[in-house]
Amino acid sequence: MNFSVEHPVRIVFGPAKSADLAEVCAQYGEKAFIVTMSELANLGLLKSALAGFDQQGREYTLYTDVKPEPQKEDFDAAISAIREGNYDVVVGVGGGSCVDFAKALAICATHPHDVWSYVNLSNKPPKPVDADKVLPVIAVPTTSGTGSEVTPFSVVINRDTMQEGTIKEPSIFPKVAIVDPELMVGLPANWTAITGVDAFSHALESYFNKQNRTPYSDMICLEAIRWIVEHLPTAYRDGSDMVARSGMAYGATLAGLAISMAGTTVGHALVHPTDARVGTPHGVSVSIYLLAVLKHTLPTEGDRFVNIAKIFAPDFQGSQNEVIQHGVESIETFLAQFDFPKKLSDYGVTMDQVEEIVDDTVGYMFRPLNQHVKSFNRDDLHAIVMDSY
Ligand SMILES: [Fe+2]
Repeated sequence: MNFSVEHPVRIVFGPAKSADLAEVCAQYGEKAFIVTMSELANLGLLKSALAGFDQQGREYTLYTDVKPEPQKEDFDAAISAIREGNYDVVVGVGGGSCVDFAKALAICATHPHDVWSYVNLSNKPPKPVDADKVLPVIAVPTTSGTGSEVTPFSVVINRDTMQEGTIKEPSIFPKVAIVDPELMVGLPANWTAITGVDAFSHALESYFNKQNRTPYSDMICLEAIRWIVEHLPTAYRDGSDMVARSGMAYGATLAGLAISMAGTTVGHALVHPTDARVGTPHGVSVSIYLLAVLKHTLPTEGDRFVNIAKIFAPDFQGSQNEVIQHGVESIETFLAQFDFPKKLSDYGVTMDQVEEIVDDTVGYMFRPLNQHVKSFNRDDLHAIVMDSY
């Protein structure tokens, strides 16, 4: 064993904690730029978070025009506003798109290039970022999925190149993640499941990241899976169950820690080109590939997969092969209870698009691909995509 562990995000966790937002922001500056989606503002999700600013007379601007799965042009208006306004801190309130949006703004507010310039693809290095200039970010997630509140990642889509890429920049780690399960109560059942399965995949993929994983990240992966498996089904069936919402919020945050330490591999390597080419919501494409990647990986590292299988069925007895087989079936059953499209054909994907997805994965996602415990060539990836069709 030979590794170092560091994680810079302060996690403030618990029901009603979002009411502390103004106070938390004040630790990083006078003037806050808060980004969210209009739907969330209309639902009143920011009410208690903003109340503190008004009560304490603190200055903020609320930007409500974040789009789901934002494209590079979607940032332009917010970048102009934040450059003109001399803000001290950027806050993202919402799902992964909102938190990611805040992180990208934290760079673009003080750097000259467009947002895509800072995206790091396997075949395209990003423009340099001066960490001292990046604005501090506060993250307030309203879904239990992306884990963006504890990662240095921000996902951006480029329609010109039909690519989806990620800014990977340590200086955009949020200073503080306020994880308030009460904000997740109103999340519809299908989105609870879609985002929850994304979190599950973060932990699963990070567990199979041969390059970056450590015993410490392994522990976090298994614990994330344990919390998600226990609480996602209830949160899906009864969104008002606070025990389940809290359990899922914790599980998803753990899974976020896992990707910030180890990182996703083949699943997300396929997911990014698919999001860009097909327009699938991120969590949906994650679900589409999850089982196929697992089946094509096993029995490689079957001895480690046993640890995951045992989370699903601790009392199951059998040979290692039987435990593995039962574990895969358990994950299949786990996913089957959630009612949302889980095949590429549900999205009208064409055979040409299948080829593009595979080419893109090899072309600009080869770095995470090569971190997986099993090597997959173009033909293997093609088989995985077709098994997900
Ligand atoms: Fe993800």
